[in-house]
Amino acid sequence: MQSKEIVLNIEALEFEGKGVAHFEGKVYFVAGGVPGDVVKCKIKKSRKSYAEAEIIEILRPSGKRIVPLCKHFGVCGGCRLQHIGYEDQLQYKQKAVEDALRHIGGLSEAKVLPIIGADNIFHYRNKMEFTFSDKKWLLEEDKLSETIFKDSFGLGLHIPNRYDKVLDIEKCWLQNEVFNRILNLTRDFVKEQKLSVYSNKTHEGYLRHLMIRTSAYSGEIMINLVTSTHNLEVMDRYTEHIIKNVPEVTTVVNNVTTRMSKVAIGEEEKVYYGNGYILEKLGKCLFKISANSFFQTNTEQAAKLYDLVKDYSNFKNTDVVYDLYCGTGSIAIYISDYVKEVIGIELVESAVNDARKNVELNNIKNCIFIQGDLKEILTSKDFKKSGIKPDIVILDPPRSGVHPTVLKVVSDVRPRIITYVSCNPTTLSRDLKILSQSEYQVLFIQPVDMFPQTYHIESIAVLESLK
Ligand SMILES: C[S@@+](CC[C@H](N)C(=O)[O-])C[C@H]1O[C@@H](n2cnc3c(N)ncnc32)[C@H](O)[C@@H]1O
Repeated sequence: MQSKEIVLNIEALEFEGKGVAHFEGKVYFVAGGVPGDVVKCKIKKSRKSYAEAEIIEILRPSGKRIVPLCKHFGVCGGCRLQHIGYEDQLQYKQKAVEDALRHIGGLSEAKVLPIIGADNIFHYRNKMEFTFSDKKWLLEEDKLSETIFKDSFGLGLHIPNRYDKVLDIEKCWLQNEVFNRILNLTRDFVKEQKLSVYSNKTHEGYLRHLMIRTSAYSGEIMINLVTSTHNLEVMDRYTEHIIKNVPEVTTVVNNVTTRMSKVAIGEEEKVYYGNGYILEKLGKCLFKISANSFFQTNTEQAAKLYDLVKDYSNFKNTDVVYDLYCGTGSIAIYISDYVKEVIGIELVESAVNDARKNVELNNIKNCIFIQGDLKEILTSKDFKKSGIKPDIVILDPPRSGVHPTVLKVVSDVRPRIITYVSCNPTTLSRDLKILSQSEYQVLFIQPVDMFPQTYHIESIAVLESLK
């Protein structure tokens, strides 16, 4: 049966960058729609209160539309906003924060400062993770070509909502040219050597992920090949091939993982070339980053973000600071010169180990790190007994936001200032509402664009105790 065709006027963008339109009492989400577009669409999925539609023809393009640079745009899930000019992307992100605060947080009075944009809107990522797949996503033109159709090997990024399919990526505009060369060389090498690819269904096969990272400070480049088993011979050949063809590469490592999850983290690591890490610098702080360490993926914007955290928190040199959800301690280290002491708490053991090493590397004496689940640590007898009262609390949770128990403990210990760094305006608004009900006043929210071309939005909210 042919699905119905309708004409829609795109009015706005929803939080994942899809166009929003209304028609006959229903809200429509249109992938690739830009506010101001008039589009002919096919209905893909229809529910009681909403529907998803696909553009068949743009009848009248919006003035905000630009031609995306990337040939993978529209299929790849990475850059959903590449068809919108950068100034308009920023306006969309600004409005998304304001809307979330009003609708979810009930904070229509909260002051949202103008978003801070990025100078580099392409090639800004310092780390990319690609997946090897035996189930390449086939484009329409591929299906017409018998040779490509038969060859189902792919190395690239996942298709949105299709974790079993990978789009073969030839050039990604978020990474630099050397990364593109490494990606294509690796693909050719694997094809030539007829290496097997790990299957998520059978759990057989060798190659799982290719991770590449670089340092804006030292220019060092790391390749991390994640595989299901050790194969010294293949790794030696791959390393030789890479070093010969891409002399910019400074270290090659192999992480081996037997885990079924699709995360590019290994259980065992072997270094095949170089020292196994890259050296990065933010402000005057150095960071040794190994294959499995977490580090902000946009170095230039990370430095801006951390400077804002430092300035907005208004530190005194007598302040005791909690850095909660501290990762590898980069915020703690960055601010350590301006305060008396920082206590960082983080769930992941390897991140805490990195934090401790980075403290040593920078010869810092006033940061300590505790490993564990924040909720359990903050409510444990030992922690309470220690009687350490923070003057300032920095929160930088994952997308799911701060656990309610953690929010309760934080507001009970009454820091003067809470500086909340968030990568999700929805959970930020929810948590700010809770904190403002505990006699904290939201002074302002500062959005910062860490991820141009994508719909991701970072913000810093600053709260002051009213008691
Ligand atoms: C957005 S990252 C923050 C990274 C760090 N502040 C930085 O700028 O590099 C969030 C961190 O929260 C940690 N995390 C998630 N759930 C946690 C929990 N229940 N307890 C403690 N840490 C947790 C994650 O492992 C991750 O390192």
